[in-house]
Amino acid sequence: INGNPIRMASPQTSSVTSELDDIDWDNLGFGFMSTDYMYVMKCSQGEEFSKGELQRFGNIELSPSAGILNYGQGLFEGLKAYRKHDGNILLFRPEENASRLRMGAERMCMPSPTVEQFVEAVKFTVLANERWIPPPGKGSLYIRPLLMGSGAVLGLAPAPEYTFLIYVSPVGNYFKEGLAPINLIVETEMHRATPGGTGGVKTIGNYAAVLKAQSAAKAKGYSDVLYLDSVHKKYLEEVSSCNVFIVKGNVISTPSIKGTILPGITRKSIIDVALSQGFQVEEREVTVDELLNADEVFCTGTAVVVSPVGSITYLGKRVTYGEDGIGRVSQQLYSALTSLQMGLTEDKMGWIME
Ligand code: COI
Repeated sequence: INGNPIRMASPQTSSVTSELDDIDWDNLGFGFMSTDYMYVMKCSQGEEFSKGELQRFGNIELSPSAGILNYGQGLFEGLKAYRKHDGNILLFRPEENASRLRMGAERMCMPSPTVEQFVEAVKFTVLANERWIPPPGKGSLYIRPLLMGSGAVLGLAPAPEYTFLIYVSPVGNYFKEGLAPINLIVETEMHRATPGGTGGVKTIGNYAAVLKAQSAAKAKGYSDVLYLDSVHKKYLEEVSSCNVFIVKGNVISTPSIKGTILPGITRKSIIDVALSQGFQVEEREVTVDELLNADEVFCTGTAVVVSPVGSITYLGKRVTYGEDGIGRVSQQLYSALTSLQMGLTEDKMGWIME
């Protein structure tokens, strides 16, 4: 325009690569590391996914007009593979992630892989990247399936082509506190979801929407943000990246699934584990007052596992839980779930896939 010639840049094909030898397995956090392979499967709108393939891990090519880039037509999932002491590799309830992705795809007008295709693809990807699975007890291989509108659109409409992709990365603890209790602030201005919206599916936009409040909270020293319902502004919803539970005596309560809360697979599993251990579990509306008067509070999620909450701050008032913050119930449920996931206890629930 100003007389400058148009510069043609060569396409960016490389991505940052990680080296296995550089990994400190004793101090894994929850950061991205590139691994060897990713799984890719494509289909056109109106068709079904049929055949995918493993590709070397690397950047992907998208039209600047791709549905996911322009209109956020995308979903993701998260699950983990664990290495057992006998060398076997374990997946935790992968078919649950497959079903949740299918539910979300319906909401976002996208085709989705079948449960069988999803689980097979997860297995292929994990086995192809086996050397990146942390040693037993040191962490897990986080599996990140993505479903996106990859075809080009300009007018607002579902994309003409879809890509299902899985990549993996070795991970340890999600919060920088490690297993120590986290400190949450209740957000009173911004909301994560509204009735009739997409809060109940794992669409990428839900996570972009929480970054502003989360960044502000972190800048003030909090670990994360706890959201309230957008109608009454007094019922708990969820934390940016996980579900929330409160404990009072022998009763464990968590917000019910009603379209604005992500139906967490760890949430669902913890409910069943708690019931099997003799707790009373209630899925219902939980008020901020109950939260502030609870004996214990904890969060659940694939990434966060079971994270005890050490303090909650609401409208400037800070409430702390327990002596050192790690409540007996949170500890008990964490141990029960993780020993099952790592293959240390008998899988009476039938949740583990070798
Ligand atoms: C997970 O827990 O797997 C999630 O998808 C949450 C994400 C923000 C890390």
